[in-house]
Amino acid sequence: MLKLAVYDTKPYDREYLSAAPGSDRVELQFHDFRLNPETARLAKGAAAVCAFVNDQLDRACLEVLAETGVKLVALRCAGFNNVDVEAANDLGIALVRVPAYSPHSVAEHAVGLLLTLNRKIHRSYNRVREQNFSLGGLVGFNLHGKTIGVIGTGKIGQLTAQIFRGFGAEVLVQDPYPDNDWADEQGMRYVDFETLLKESEIVSLHAPLMPETLHMLNEETIATMRPGVYIVNTSRGKLIDTSALIAALKSGHVGGVALDVYEEEEGIFFEDLSGLVLADDELARLLTFPNVLITAHQAFLTDEALSEIARVTIENVLNLDAETAYIEGTTL
Ligand code: NAI
Repeated sequence: MLKLAVYDTKPYDREYLSAAPGSDRVELQFHDFRLNPETARLAKGAAAVCAFVNDQLDRACLEVLAETGVKLVALRCAGFNNVDVEAANDLGIALVRVPAYSPHSVAEHAVGLLLTLNRKIHRSYNRVREQNFSLGGLVGFNLHGKTIGVIGTGKIGQLTAQIFRGFGAEVLVQDPYPDNDWADEQGMRYVDFETLLKESEIVSLHAPLMPETLHMLNEETIATMRPGVYIVNTSRGKLIDTSALIAALKSGHVGGVALDVYEEEEGIFFEDLSGLVLADDELARLLTFPNVLITAHQAFLTDEALSEIARVTIENVLNLDAETAYIEGTTL
């Protein structure tokens, strides 16, 4: 039976992968630690490994995997910025991922974060539990009539933009590969990056992390945004230069920030660090702002998304012909 070493697993990963169709034809070996050049050795005997967003699949790690006989890396996520694709090709390791498990899960979370932040629900939740029923400081604003910019109109960005249209917002969109038919149908307007930043009162990021998008929001670009702008990032932490963001929050230029991802989240997000001293000064500073709301990379975490991730991952692995490392279906 084909053996699959699954790294960086949490109880929900184990539950959904074990229940996925076809999982009885795969020997699942779960590890709770992340994949790196040291832990890669533990894949010995496995034809495939399954990795997640914060596993570091650099050349060194892939070389160890190749030495142990691994033929396939199955990412149980959409993004693949953590993989050295060239190294995998050189080493003859096939790569597969789950490109679209449930874009609704992320789009709905992005909007949920924005509403929580803008209507100050996170603050009222705490107040009411303390029997403080006062409303001082809880004034929000309507999304109806606002200009909202959506950067990246792939699967998640399109759905998020459509939800914003449902609120009656004017939605500006930007993407190097515009989908003009969709925009016309939905009443969206494609603009360039500069215009989107200049005109939007809220900006939601849905572009992938690539060299061109690294720190797309930095000191210079944030300065061109409207005073009091709200920023939502459910895509990848490194799209935003955190130091510049903190400076803009301190000056009041940025009015609110909702993050599901953080530049240095690796080793922090997905872990229970309560009771420990938080060593990351920038994250610690972000957590002190009343107008910053952070969730720990949970936008994908719905029943529907986890079922689909598990189903496609097992299907991807079962498509592996271990002899030839030939893969049917979606590869990177
Ligand atoms: P997708 O590939 O369908 O869409 C990405 C879009 O971004 C494409 O239309 C692409 O042309 C566009 N893009 C590329 N470069 C750009 C640039 N410089 N400026 C503006 N747009 C640009 O991807 P999908 O499924 O919509 O996911 C988007 C991102 O969301 C992923 O790359 C991933 O990083 C993130 N994500 C986060 C999750 C979470 O749990 N927080 C879960 C799943 C994805």
